Order: sequence, then structure tokens, then C-alpha cells
Amino acid sequence: MDDLIRRLPKAELHLHIEGSLEPELMFELAGRNGIALPYNSVDDVKAAYQFTNLQSFLDIYYQAAAVLQTEQDFFDLTWAYLKRAAEDNVRHAEIFFDPQTHTARGIDFETVLEGITSALQAGERELGISSRLIMCFLRHLSAKEAMTTLQQALPHRQQIVAVGLDSSEVGHPPSKFREVFDEARRQGFLTVAHAGEEGPPEYIREALDLLHAARIDHGVRCMENADLVSRLRDEQIPLTVCPLSNVRLCVFERIEDHPLRRMLEAGLCVTVNSDDPAYFGGYIGENFAAVTRGLELSREQVLQLARNSFAAAFVDEKRKAELI
Ligand code: HPA
Ligand code: ZN
Repeated sequence: MDDLIRRLPKAELHLHIEGSLEPELMFELAGRNGIALPYNSVDDVKAAYQFTNLQSFLDIYYQAAAVLQTEQDFFDLTWAYLKRAAEDNVRHAEIFFDPQTHTARGIDFETVLEGITSALQAGERELGISSRLIMCFLRHLSAKEAMTTLQQALPHRQQIVAVGLDSSEVGHPPSKFREVFDEARRQGFLTVAHAGEEGPPEYIREALDLLHAARIDHGVRCMENADLVSRLRDEQIPLTVCPLSNVRLCVFERIEDHPLRRMLEAGLCVTVNSDDPAYFGGYIGENFAAVTRGLELSREQVLQLARNSFAAAFVDEKRKAELI
């Protein structure tokens, strides 16, 4: 089964590029940019990755992002992810980036975007991985700040397929960003949103009804509401599930408790993704392996997960046919 998982062509649809910053690269960039880290070694960094909830992770994750300064840094970060993804036979990747994490530190929006997109182009050319970029708004910041970020993105409309919503979920419902998402859709962006990771099923409903999300990121708490499950199944709204993330952030205690298999059996369009692989102990292949073993998935269920990832991708039918 491990061999099947590795060789299976797959699309990754929920990956925060800042969350692919491995401790080794963190040290390299800190050295290059003359930035002091609050850690003495790679082991020291890894020992700090003991999370109790989403916020305890975000605090460390935003701090680490400070080592990313130049276009080359963003290139190196993205290129490292793509090379690793190629080993898991990722054929297509839809990557989140958080411009506000960087612009708040005085880094230009264009520095971030150019570094990432030039690596994505190299990934297509040299690794055969096609990609799309999704710009996330930090939901702990104001809707006004999100609108400013949307305006910064408009000259680069062709390089960004969708907008999304991430960061601290509870207390920051999708409704807070309704006008920003209305404007984004008017400008031609697709929309997605993190919802139902730590937040209640109601946030998933808001993401669908108010933000017109084409996919829900995480969405695991939908299982608490039978009507919502029926709707997600009937409309085949894709859910980009991140099993190792959910365990590391204590959404579920053990992988054996994860609802992914029940979600598949309920007819939901579930995909498997790594979220922030440098922090959560595994890339997409390791996420597939963990649920396959922990939930005793059948070969057919594993194949279904990979098929779903292509069905849910923001590419046209012709490209989907080439990818599979
Ligand atoms: N949830 C919310 N925000 C995030 C996540 C996540 O899983 N990863 C990076 N930012
Ligand atoms: Zn995420």
C-alpha cells in the first residue's frame, strides 16, 4: 500500500507555503538575512513544535516567517516544497500564501508574489507540476485590511486564481469578510475558506452562503450536523482535509479518531492534504499513509481520495484528463 500511495498521481489543494518552511531552511535564511532566532539548533526548533490548539501553532508559525525577506527567499521556500512534493508524485498543487504576514513586516507584496510565482514556473518546467496560487486573508485582522490586500493583488489578477481565509478561526466567522469576498468575486477570483477546523458547522454554512466558497478547507466539523453533511454531499462541495494537522492541533486526539473515513462513506468529496508539513510531521504522502493505516482504508478508498483531488482542482477538464 505504501508503494501505491507514493506512486499514485495526486493533487495537493491545501498547502500554506509558509508552512513548508523546514527548520534547516529557517536557519539558512536567518543566517543569510542576519536575523536572530529564538532557537539554538534544528532539534531545538522541533522540540518547540508541541501544539495544543490552532493558536499555539500560529504564534510560532508567524514568528518563523520573519526569516523570509527577499524574492530569493520566497523562491527557495517554494522550490523546496515542489521538489519534496514531486517525490510523492504530486502532479498539481494549489498553494496558499499569506501576503499580510509579510507586508506587515515591510516586505513588498510583489517581492512575495514574484518569488513564489517564479518557483512555480520552474516547477512546471522542470518537475512537470502544474500549480495555482490562492491568496489568503488573515481572519484575525480586519475586513478593511483584507480589502487593502485585495487591492494590492488586482494588478496581479492573472497570477492568483482564488482568495481564501485562514488564521484564528473561532471569533472570526466568514460573515466578517462578506464584502471583501463579494468584491473579489466581482474581480473574477474564485473563493475558498478555512471553516469547521476549530469553528462550528455554522461557519461552514456561512462560507458557502455568504462567501460562495467553491471548496471548504478542513470542514471536518461538518460531521456534527447531518443536514450540512447532506448538503455538502448533494452539492459535492470538496473538503480539503488535513489529517496530520488535525491531530497535531488537537482537533482529534489520535489518527484513529479522525472522521475522514466516515466522511468518505457519507459520500463527501474529501481530499487529503498536508496543510503545514514542516510543522505537522508529514507531507501529503505521509498524510495518505497515516489515514490508510489508522483508519484501515481500502485500496478503492485511497484511489477515490486521489480522484477527488483532481475533480476538486481549479483547472479545466482538459488539464484534469492530462493529470490523472
Ligand atoms: N488553519 C488556519 N490558519 C492556518 C492554518 C490552519 O490550519 N495553517 C496555516 N494557517
Ligand atoms: Zn490550512
